[in-house]
Amino acid sequence: MPSRILTVAGSDPSGGAGIQADIKTIMALGGYAMSAVTAVTVQDTLKIYDVIPIDSVQVAAQINCVLNDIGADVIKTGMLHSTGVVSALFDILRSLKPPIPLIVDPVILSTSGHALLCEEGVNLLIEKIFPFITLLTPNLAEAAALSGMKVVADLQQMEEAGKILLSQGLGQKNGGGAVLIKGGHLVGEDVSDMLLFYKKDRLQKYLFSSQKQNTRNTHGTGCSLASAIAVKYADLRQSVFDPNALFKAVEFAHHYVAKAIETAPNFGKGKGPLNHIL
Ligand SMILES: Nc1ncnc2c1ncn2[C@@H]1O[C@H](COP(=O)(O)OP(=O)(O)OP(=O)(O)O)[C@@H](O)[C@H]1O
Ligand SMILES: [Mg+2]
Repeated sequence: MPSRILTVAGSDPSGGAGIQADIKTIMALGGYAMSAVTAVTVQDTLKIYDVIPIDSVQVAAQINCVLNDIGADVIKTGMLHSTGVVSALFDILRSLKPPIPLIVDPVILSTSGHALLCEEGVNLLIEKIFPFITLLTPNLAEAAALSGMKVVADLQQMEEAGKILLSQGLGQKNGGGAVLIKGGHLVGEDVSDMLLFYKKDRLQKYLFSSQKQNTRNTHGTGCSLASAIAVKYADLRQSVFDPNALFKAVEFAHHYVAKAIETAPNFGKGKGPLNHIL
């Protein structure tokens, strides 16, 4: 039986990021993909031109009907876009029995400067959604925004931000939570993603490093990474929060994304999409 993954995210018509990247990744890794669309973006590999929101009532309806009918082994969220959607997600999460592991890619700002979640939405995310999160996957800028740090730009600051995020109650309601700070934007020769969580009050830290590829083809790396983790975690997990499964899923996904960048089809005039089907 394929693992059932529900992605709650925005549509990217260029097919490199968002819902489209999630579905491609999930299918490539043998999962069954379902999607609830939070907003329709108008974008290509160069930039985001517009974001057309879907009403939160309709987003909640999409999530509820697929969960009631098919169910999900992991829920993955990307761009939530509005406070309404964050609130609706909270209502759904607190009513789930049994709980479903939740991977949150906290998309806040696009590289082109479009707000993909407003400040109030970010505060609500921390207050309401953090307690249900199995894994939070911020990039450097998102780690800074969520932790309140001015800047997160090296391994030491990544650890500091991670500790702050863990202290904000990640996974409290579902047996524990972890944070993976993505280092795709680190300056230097390597990219390193840092996984942090507590095991019996002791901080566990793992680094996943590879050579930074000198390429323009990095559109949707974050979405693809989180979706790859979602499928592997769904395949491996023994409980809602399973640190061993999480470690293996992150390790696998880090290498999957590196290979997907390496073999990218080189499409478009801007940041090109990855090769999801390796
Ligand atoms: N140039 C690169 N070479 C190798 N790996 C990379 C490169 N850029 C990003 N990655 C990897 O891609 C994954 C996503 O990291 P990144 O920090 O780019 O996330 P992001 O900013 O959220 O991505 P997105 O632009 O899709 O939102 C990480 O596993 C990171 O290590
Ligand atoms: Mg991202």
